[in-house]
Amino acid sequence: MTKVTTTAVEQMIIQPPSRFYEDSSLPKPNISSLDEYKAMYEQSIKNPNKFWGDMAREVIDWDRDFSTVLQGSLQAADFAWFADGMLSPCYNVLDRHAIARPDATAIIYEADEPNQGRHITYRQLLADVCQCAGALASLGVGKGDRVAIYMPMIPAVVVAMLATIRLGAVHTVVFAGFSAESLADRVNDAGCKVVITSDVSYRGSKVIPLKNIVDKAVPNCPSVTNVLVFQRSAAPTASMVDGRDIWWQDIVPKFPRYIPNVSVSAEHPLFLLYTSGSTGKPKGVVHTTAGYLLGAHATCKYVFDLHPTDRMGCAGDVGWITGHTYIVYGPLMMGAATLVFESTPAYPDFTRYWSTVERHKLTQWYVAPTAIRLLQRAGESFVKHDTSSLRVLGSVGEPIAPENFMWYHDVVGKKSCAVADTYWQTETGSHIVAPISTVTPTKPGSATLPFFGIDLAIVDPLTGKELEGNDVEGVLAVKQPWPSAARTVWRGHDRYIDTYLKPYPGFYFTGDGAARDSDGYIWIRGRVDDVVNISGHRLSTSEIEAALMTHAAVAEAAVVGVPDELTGQAVNAFILLKDGFEVNAELEKELILTVRTQIGPFASPKKLIFSDLPKTRSGKIMRRILRKVLAGEEDQLGDVSTLADPKVVHDIIHAVHRAH
Ligand code: WTA
Repeated sequence: MTKVTTTAVEQMIIQPPSRFYEDSSLPKPNISSLDEYKAMYEQSIKNPNKFWGDMAREVIDWDRDFSTVLQGSLQAADFAWFADGMLSPCYNVLDRHAIARPDATAIIYEADEPNQGRHITYRQLLADVCQCAGALASLGVGKGDRVAIYMPMIPAVVVAMLATIRLGAVHTVVFAGFSAESLADRVNDAGCKVVITSDVSYRGSKVIPLKNIVDKAVPNCPSVTNVLVFQRSAAPTASMVDGRDIWWQDIVPKFPRYIPNVSVSAEHPLFLLYTSGSTGKPKGVVHTTAGYLLGAHATCKYVFDLHPTDRMGCAGDVGWITGHTYIVYGPLMMGAATLVFESTPAYPDFTRYWSTVERHKLTQWYVAPTAIRLLQRAGESFVKHDTSSLRVLGSVGEPIAPENFMWYHDVVGKKSCAVADTYWQTETGSHIVAPISTVTPTKPGSATLPFFGIDLAIVDPLTGKELEGNDVEGVLAVKQPWPSAARTVWRGHDRYIDTYLKPYPGFYFTGDGAARDSDGYIWIRGRVDDVVNISGHRLSTSEIEAALMTHAAVAEAAVVGVPDELTGQAVNAFILLKDGFEVNAELEKELILTVRTQIGPFASPKKLIFSDLPKTRSGKIMRRILRKVLAGEEDQLGDVSTLADPKVVHDIIHAVHRAH
C-alpha cells in the first residue's frame, strides 16, 4: 500500500480553544482531557457491554430495564442492543424535559422571512405533539404503522415526527426536494398509511407547491388512506380531495393536550430513511429505538460538547439523516434547544447564517462544506454579526478541504471555536469518526479519530484483509456492531447483507476509501462505489442513468460525478442516442426535465455529453475512462485493451471538448 501523503496545510495541528477551560462563564467540558477520551474509547472497545450498558441506563429512561446489552453479531447481521428493554422514545426526547424544565426552549424556529420565527418551549411542544398524535391515531395510525412526512423545515415537521413515534408508529421523512415519483416510490416501499405535508413551502422567498406534488404521488400509492396537510401559507390554495385530505389546523387542535406514550421494545423500528446506494432503488434504512437514541445523545454530548442549556444550530434538513440525528433526536434527547431553519444561507443575503446565530445566541453550528464554500466565496465582509456565543463549528456530509476548514475556523470561529469535521452515514445513525471538540487536536481535512464503540478497520480492497497499524490506505470498515448502526433494510434484509456485509466478510463496509496517517488520524478519501455527493446530497449514478434511459431518445446513459467548486461534486451524463434522434436544445431540456421529475431538481446533470460509451466486451461501462477524460487526463487512461471498441475513446474525447 502507498504511504499516506499529506500537504503542508494538512499537517497543521489545531488545539481545542483554551477558553473552554479558562472561561468560567462557559459550561464545563463534558470531556476534559485527551487521556479521558482515550480511556473511554478503550473501554468502549474492550468492554462494550459495560460501556454502553452503563451509559444507556444513565441517559435513557427505561420503562423496563434490559438484561443483555449486545447480543448477536455483525457477521450474522443479527445484532441487537438492550433487546429485552422497553422504553417510550417520545418520553425520552420530550416528556421528561417538559416535566423537569417546562419553560426551557425546545425549538428555535427561524422562518424563511427573518423575524417571523418563534421559540417553542418543551411544555408547548409536548402539547402540540400529543394533539397531533391524537389526530394520527384517529386516522388509524398505530404501533408499527408507517407514516410518510414530506414537509418544509417548520416546527410542524418535528411535531409530526414525534407524534408518529409517540404512537409506536414509524416515520419515513422524504426530503421535500424529491419529485412526486420519488415520493411515491418511497411511500409504496414503506407501505405508508398517512402522508403528512403542507400546502406550500417557502425557501429564499420561493414558493414550492408541496401539496400539488403529493397529489401527483398519492394516486399511485394504494396504502395511503389519508393526507394530513399543514397550512403553511397565509391563505391556503391547495385543493383537497374529499375523504382523503384533512387540514392539520382543522383536526389537530381538537385532540387532548396530553395522551400517554406507547412503550416499545428497544429494537422496535424508530424510523426508516431512504438512501441511495450503488445499485437498484433507494433502500429504506431501518433504525431502531434505544441504540439510535443512545448514539444520537452520546455524539451530541461528546463530539459537540452539547449541554442541556445549549442552543444547537444545525442548518440541515430533516429529509436527511443529519436532520434526524442533529436537529431532532440528539439535541432533544439532551433537553437542549434546537434550531429549525427554514431558509437558505443566501436569503435575504449572505449574512443569514450569522444573523441567525446572533439572534438566537446559538452555541453550536453544523452545516455541509457546500455552504461554507458558498459563503467563503461570497467574502468575509458578510461575517460581521456577533457570533461569540458559538463554541463548536461542525462540518458534515462531504469532505471539507483544508482551506475551507481554515476559513471556518479563522473567519467564522474567530480562532476561538473548535471545528469538528464529522464523518458518518445514514446507515451509521450518528458520527463514527469525529473529534471530541473539547479535547481532540484537529488536522484540517481529517475527520480525526473514531468515536466511542467504533472499532475501525482500514481494509485492503484487493485482499479484503485488515491493514493494521498506521500509515495505511484502503477502504473504511467497522469490525463490531455499535448501538446506532442500521439493523436492516426495510423488507430487504438480504440487500442489507449484500451491500454492507458481503463486500468484505467480517466487516461493515462503508463504501468510502480512507487512510490512517502516522498519528492514527483518519482521512476520508470519498466513495469507492457509484455514489455521488452533490451539495452533501447522496445520489446513485445508476438511479440517474435509469431516469435518463426512460426517455425515448436515449439508448444508453452513463453518469459520473466530477469535482465542482461549489457543490463538491456535480453530475455529468454521457448519452448515446437511439438512431433517428438528433441532439438539439429541446432534447437537452427534455432530458434534464426527465431527471427532475423522476428524482428531483437537485439531481439534474450539470452537463450532457452526447457520445458512444466505453464498454468492455462483457458490456460493462468503464466509468474510469469517462472520469479521466472529464478531468483532462486523456494521457492517463490506463489499459483500454479490454474495451470492445477502443476507438470509442476518441469519440468521447471529442464529445467532451465539444461540450466544454
Ligand atoms: C460522505 C451524511 C468526507 C461519505 C451524514 C459518506 C463525508 C456519505 C463526511 C454518507 C465527511 C459524510 N468527510 N465525506 N466528514 N461525512 N461523508 O448517508 O461519502 O447522506 O459515505 O450521510 O457522505 O452520506 P449520507
